[in-house]
Amino acid sequence: MSEPRVRFEVEGLVATITIDRPQALNALDPATISELSAAMDQLEASSATGAILTGGGKAFVAGADLKVLSDVQTADRARGYARQGQAVFGKISASSKPVIACVNGYALGGGLELALACHFRYASERAKLGLPEVTLGLIPGYGGTQRLSRLVGRGIATELILTGERINAAEALRIGLVNQVFADKDAMLAAAAATLQTIGAHGQVAVKLALEALERGLDGSLEHGLEVEADLFGIACSTKDAAEGIQAFIEKRPAEFQGK
Ligand code: CAA
Repeated sequence: MSEPRVRFEVEGLVATITIDRPQALNALDPATISELSAAMDQLEASSATGAILTGGGKAFVAGADLKVLSDVQTADRARGYARQGQAVFGKISASSKPVIACVNGYALGGGLELALACHFRYASERAKLGLPEVTLGLIPGYGGTQRLSRLVGRGIATELILTGERINAAEALRIGLVNQVFADKDAMLAAAAATLQTIGAHGQVAVKLALEALERGLDGSLEHGLEVEADLFGIACSTKDAAEGIQAFIEKRPAEFQGK
């Protein structure tokens, strides 16, 4: 049996999903994508309230596996390949628990697309991010044209996609691609764990509903998004957690949420 390519570990409220195929800079072959999908199922079923997604070794993820891609020769097969990856990345973006990408090195092509599918991103100073597909005669196929432009705006996304240039962590921070930059991987992981602990202390139904509002509400008109938000606000207001949160505020004490 081959070595696992994705590790899933839980410590307290925080799960860590590590893409661990360092000999190929964590390039995404079909087995890695399928193990990533299984890790997302584990996250949903686990007691963790959120996850860090990072890369083992010096890279985050250096993209789709180009050795595998060199065998995908027909348009139909390549389309199917893109849709399979997109489905797994969609699972991350639609997850009911927050997933923070911790970009510790190269996040190129499918690797940057993976980070984009996470709810938000931290980077270490060693991070190098880009969508080099056009330099290979390809285009991004795991959501890069769509998620990058929605995150940083169409103009900046178009420039990055058409030039294929890699940017460093400071530039990624400047354009809003990552939220924070850390001196090294350990500091980044510690900060991401602390962020997840903060989120984990809140009412978990509210966290889930807020993620759902962001996921379902942003991809249509403002009116559609506001309707989604109002529906989910209604559900949030009717939970025991909301009753407890508001009562705790009035009584000037910390809330004791039960996730109900
Ligand atoms: N696929 C398969 N193997 C890869 C890989 C990839 N995307 N990236 C790196 N590797 C492998 C290399 O082949 C090499 O393996 P061998 O030792 O067996 O030859 C090993 O990882 C180490 O890589 P390098 O020797 O190249 O390491 P480096 O430090 O000199 O360079 C790098 C690092 C700049 C990231 C370089 O490896 C690189 O440019 N990789 C390709 C990046 C890329 O183009 N990604 C986009 C892929 S297309 C895509 O993702 C499509 C999509 O949207 C779905």
